[in-house]
Amino acid sequence: IFLCISICLGEDYDLDDKTGLGRSFDGIGGLSGGGATSRLLVNYAEPYRSQILDYLFKPTFGASLQILKVEIGGDAQTTDGTEPSHMHYEDDENYFRGYEWWLMKEAKKRNPNITLIGLPWAFPGWVGNGENWPYSFPDITASYVVSWILGAKQYHDLDIDYVGIWNERSFNSKYIKLLRYTLDKSGLERVKIIASDNLWEPISSVVIADKELQDAVEILGVHYPGTNTVPEALKTGKKLWSSEDYSTFNDNVGGGCWARILNQNYVNGKMTATISWNLVSSYYEDLPFERDGLMTAKEPWSGNYVVESPIWITAHTTQFTEPGWTYLQTVGHFTHGGSYVALTDERGNLTIITETMTHDHSVCIRPPLPSYDVTAQNVTFHLKGTFASISELQVWHSKRLHFILRCPWSFSIELDVDEVYTFTTVRNGQRGSYPDPPPSAPFPKSYKDDFDVSGNPYFSEAPNFADQTGVFEYFTNQTDPGPHVSTLRQVVTQRPVTWVADADQTISVIGDYQWQDLMVSCDIYMESVHTGGVFIAVRVNKGGGVVRSTRGVFLWVYADGTYKVTNDLNGMTVLAEGMSGTRARVWYTLTLTVKGNYASADLDGYPLWKNAVLWEPRHGWAAMGTSSFELAQFDNFAIEALA
Ligand code: GAL
Repeated sequence: IFLCISICLGEDYDLDDKTGLGRSFDGIGGLSGGGATSRLLVNYAEPYRSQILDYLFKPTFGASLQILKVEIGGDAQTTDGTEPSHMHYEDDENYFRGYEWWLMKEAKKRNPNITLIGLPWAFPGWVGNGENWPYSFPDITASYVVSWILGAKQYHDLDIDYVGIWNERSFNSKYIKLLRYTLDKSGLERVKIIASDNLWEPISSVVIADKELQDAVEILGVHYPGTNTVPEALKTGKKLWSSEDYSTFNDNVGGGCWARILNQNYVNGKMTATISWNLVSSYYEDLPFERDGLMTAKEPWSGNYVVESPIWITAHTTQFTEPGWTYLQTVGHFTHGGSYVALTDERGNLTIITETMTHDHSVCIRPPLPSYDVTAQNVTFHLKGTFASISELQVWHSKRLHFILRCPWSFSIELDVDEVYTFTTVRNGQRGSYPDPPPSAPFPKSYKDDFDVSGNPYFSEAPNFADQTGVFEYFTNQTDPGPHVSTLRQVVTQRPVTWVADADQTISVIGDYQWQDLMVSCDIYMESVHTGGVFIAVRVNKGGGVVRSTRGVFLWVYADGTYKVTNDLNGMTVLAEGMSGTRARVWYTLTLTVKGNYASADLDGYPLWKNAVLWEPRHGWAAMGTSSFELAQFDNFAIEALA
């Protein structure tokens, strides 16, 4: 009876391959970086870290991602922190920095077929040769980027499949052609170029007008297209990708956004890949764009993580398709709102995904979403052409974003609003699960790190430090016989070619943003004679793209023998200052204590000053850093949070 009613009263939709197929599907992915979005993930203890990686990458388990895009670290702030470059200096090369190599390997381990993409947001200063611009010396930029791809293969056996130009910034045709040439010359013909990770224009028109550029560019990658394309983009004949999208708080509305754009990026915009910024929200929650990832894993100290609804929305497509499958031409919108896509492997398999997301339950961060209506409706899919012989489909259903398996169903269905269905011949889908992780807990009130990592440390950065300008790395003092052989060192010595406005000082934050009263101490070592300066700080209230206007309580000592206490990172508001007798190449212990409206500091255990009065900010992270882009070392960092 149900069948009859829906057939009689519902709308009919043909799924047919008789007149040919649509575009080839390239996958759904996540973006780590742009920037430092996976920073805290690496410090999770097992088994939690592997569980998170399984939810993201393990085929037919969770999101089962088909694409992993990573930032090619450029030593500069790129949204939630800095990511280290493989070449801090012109004569420097190291392919073991940061966590993107590790992440790519973990992804490949789970899914050897995953597509890998690299894209720079920023570049070390030497690449721009003093200019805040990467195209004045395009040959330098091209060989810098190509060395990252060669290093991926040489040191990690990772084959990078695609490389981009400069995230959401200008492209340069001469540079793109030179990049293609440099790739080819390096035996990397198989690595294809995506351009330009920004808007549809001007790249589409420029590609149309320039035959050589046409040959160099494989994919037109656009950001936040609002599911639409433009005629010029279609005219290029290129594959169209939404190479960055989503960036929405990952509650059920975020899940709705993701469901709607995954279908409609193809239905409306002919885009055959969609990549989520970001992959996993693994950064302090008070940094910009809190929880704008497919899932949340921002507490390595507790082990707590949350598998959010976008994971299961992704699964609706990824678990039942593979890159290389083909969209049917018969895809589209339902009469009463929502959309459907269908894909086939051209060997008899068929996967249909429907979404009926209402406006208010699927708004994405950008662009604005014009209003529209969706109502409950009965739909009937008629399987035609080679699909006529399909006798049974598996049905997967998410409503209010539960992901549940129902038994095989017929082809007529009553669709309510805010639902996603997958109807598929693929039988091995799974709602993967692990026992609940430990409960959420605040950052430990008492915390210490002596940066002593024996042998080759697994990561180049100390746990939980989130660099906001500059890069802080483990360092071994080869010649130091004393207690400071293993330290943390700030290594960026020149302002990078930036993506946003990095501070003029370097800074790395750590801890709990709600901390008010605390004591921080750290051994420090300035390396720049006369001009050096370092700080430790508490109640630090900003990071990300607004790092320049960070406030807090900063205790500075300088290599010229002076100290300062300032209320801000850029040192405009001085609370106290005087002589400290400090100089470069000597270790000192700094201690900063803040209680209520009073701050005081010790240098090597002797009071430097007492009871400086402060009003704002009331709370924030602890931090360390330097007064300019200069080398300096830190050791025996300790925090006691009092309140
Ligand atoms: C994008 C950018 C990302 C991140 C994101 C936040 O435009 O490429 O790095 O900043 O915005 O929504």
